[in-house]
Amino acid sequence: MRTETKYRLADSCIVEPLVNSWFAWSYILSPLTASLHLLNYQLKAMEEYLKDPELHIRASRDAALIGGPYLDIPESRAGEVRALLESTKLNQRHNLALAEATIEFYNRLVDEASGQSLESFYRVLPSPLRGYVELVYDYYNRPMARFVEGLLYASHYYDQSLQSLRIYALKRDDTRRFFMSTPRLQEEEQIDWKVPLADERVDRFFALDVEPQPLSVVRDLIGLNRSDGEKLLTILSPVPSATPDKWNGADVRVRYFGHACVLLEWNGASILTDPFIGVRPLQGGIERLSYGDLPRSIDYVLVTHNHADHFVLESLLRLRHRINCLVVPKSYGLLHGDISLKLLAQKLRFKQVLELDALESISIAGGEIVSIPFFGEHGDLAHGKTGYIVRAGEHRMMFGADSNCLDRRLYENIRCSVGRVESVFLGTECVGAPLCWSYGPLFPRPPRRSHDQTRRQRGCDSDGAMEIMEALGTRRFYSYGMGQEPWLEHILALGLSDDSPQIREADELLMKAQRRNFAAAERLFGKGEFFLETVSETDEEEHCVAASLNSNAEDEFVF
Ligand SMILES: [Fe+2]
Ligand SMILES: [Fe+2]
Repeated sequence: MRTETKYRLADSCIVEPLVNSWFAWSYILSPLTASLHLLNYQLKAMEEYLKDPELHIRASRDAALIGGPYLDIPESRAGEVRALLESTKLNQRHNLALAEATIEFYNRLVDEASGQSLESFYRVLPSPLRGYVELVYDYYNRPMARFVEGLLYASHYYDQSLQSLRIYALKRDDTRRFFMSTPRLQEEEQIDWKVPLADERVDRFFALDVEPQPLSVVRDLIGLNRSDGEKLLTILSPVPSATPDKWNGADVRVRYFGHACVLLEWNGASILTDPFIGVRPLQGGIERLSYGDLPRSIDYVLVTHNHADHFVLESLLRLRHRINCLVVPKSYGLLHGDISLKLLAQKLRFKQVLELDALESISIAGGEIVSIPFFGEHGDLAHGKTGYIVRAGEHRMMFGADSNCLDRRLYENIRCSVGRVESVFLGTECVGAPLCWSYGPLFPRPPRRSHDQTRRQRGCDSDGAMEIMEALGTRRFYSYGMGQEPWLEHILALGLSDDSPQIREADELLMKAQRRNFAAAERLFGKGEFFLETVSETDEEEHCVAASLNSNAEDEFVF
């Protein structure tokens, strides 16, 4: 009897989540930020492009301008951009009305409310906002509008029929240029699957990464006809994938997947940080670990913050069926840009989503996961974010992502509360984007240029990073999250070279760590694997008594 050939997703298969043809990231899914982004960014960018497509093409290839609001679309396809613009104005008119009303009302509120009762403002709320906002003051009588995000998801402002998946084989890494500013017009060889991202068929499709199926099953799942079905063969492979080798040892196996994505495994447990997984292109490219190298079931995925290179929907959706628990930072709930990642993940049907506040922890066999404060890197906006300390046995590892060392005492306090942190994974993106890059569309009034330039979304320099590690008693440093892997360009467009200040700071920090005789000082890049012992010495009681004496002495002096 002939057995039917079974197919898995090919190593080069890319599956991009889209909303109305734009690459899906958190701010274009959460209804209010999506509406503001639509009004203040997407529509403007498309209108500007249509005035001068040539200029946009040139700008999107210019290293100095890359990452700006330029559409990277040939002039021959300008008609499609015009059609998208017109259909957007029609289909998303509710969202545009919501964004316009928010800006108009927020500005009025700030101009007119100065400590008197806010009750009268409910009577003049524009219709699109009614029932969705609570008006509050801070202690200085500065008014704020708090949006009820959960109700916005349940309203016509959240339209899942705009969502889709774009599926294709990646030719080379550099064919995926920066496209956060560019709608994804469909190419001939690509498959466009109109499906809500929360749909369970999406999980069945991604299960092909681990459980191959006959071609007919895949075709029926996506709903393709037989001729379109030919395209499927370009994104599938009949070659069985190697079974991911699971690590059950007592020491921690650390596997580096690029950027801030690290897989920790010990005693059969698995923890993955900030998943941003690259696929293997058809041609060239550096070595990398990919979806097939991840366990079939991942116990915890830890997300540090809501930047597009850390909360990466493309990777998260593909892993959704394998993730047992998604851990996200708790949002502060005051500013509309501080969206709840928990709500969003629940809307996207992740099985279990936990939101951790600072110093809350999750017990795991032989260890724990502790959420720690993450200061800086958000232009001084009150946006929730978190670092994590993972304890395996007595070995503590900090995943600080883009944390900035704004107050060394924070880390001294963390050490006293949590214990000495042997290993630190930290970035040195010390330049950072200006305030308005990604946040600009959220402001009811554009910030001053001087504020835009000085309130940068930056992390540590080498001095700050060393202060953190001195405070924590660290002996192993791993530089990560530097955006250098070639599969990040479509989101980050950092174009860093060895001369870039961020990389020079990383080098400087590695030298400082070596001079201090750290047991490890490494820059992670591309792909990596190493082991950490679960036992390390502790001297915490003595340390904290000394720290508390020092801090008392300092306080006495100050006051
Ligand atoms: Fe960041
Ligand atoms: Fe980052």
